[in-house]
Amino acid sequence: MIETPRLIIRPWRDEDREPFWAMACDPRVMAHLPPLTRAESDASVDRMMALQNTHGHAFWALERKAETDFIGFCGIMPPRPPIFEHEIGWRLAHHAWAQGYAREAADASLDWAWASLPVSSIMAITNLANTRSWGLMERLGMVRHSDEDFDHPDLAKGDPLRPHILYRIQRPRLAAN
Ligand SMILES: CC(C)(COP(=O)(O)OP(=O)(O)OC[C@H]1O[C@@H](n2cnc3c(N)ncnc32)[C@H](O)[C@@H]1OP(=O)(O)O)[C@@H](O)C(=O)NCCC(=O)NCCS
Repeated sequence: MIETPRLIIRPWRDEDREPFWAMACDPRVMAHLPPLTRAESDASVDRMMALQNTHGHAFWALERKAETDFIGFCGIMPPRPPIFEHEIGWRLAHHAWAQGYAREAADASLDWAWASLPVSSIMAITNLANTRSWGLMERLGMVRHSDEDFDHPDLAKGDPLRPHILYRIQRPRLAAN
């Protein structure tokens, strides 16, 4: 569990399934993501719980300290096909946007990664139309690698969500004394 000024970042619990499914039913949240059925939404939660057990990390559930409510996820995924690097990602309920929560969770997730994983960089992916997502990547200091744009193999040819852009951030150098 990671604590930030306003958030608790923690492993998923069964009671997160319902609010996570509510997010999947919100077209504003899913505008740049493939649609999910209830079974797929629950399977995503199962996958996060399994990755937490096997790797010790995944995209984590986010809870506001003040309200103790589930507001979405942010965290670091271990490499898995078709993504062969550690990946940071996020998804918040619409009511939790534009308050800096995603930034706060992402900063804490990166700090956790630099302290806990033997990696030199972390990547993130999205599509060009998802300005809120790549805007956050840029606010975090991530850099776009336009020579690594790719078509996501899990999405069908012709799907407008298929073309992806890739950002990466390097492990910060230790400040010299
Ligand atoms: C992508 C996503 C997580 C970004 O969330 P976000 O709330 O825009 O991002 P941040 O946490 O960085 O918040 C920035 C906004 O909070 C505002 N803000 C308010 N209080 C703040 C504070 N204390 N600290 C920082 N920013 C604050 C900023 O001014 C900025 O506002 P703006 O959007 O009007 O410019 C969110 O839009 C989302 O969940 N989208 C749907 C799912 C999705 O597409 N996920 C990515 C798939 S690749």
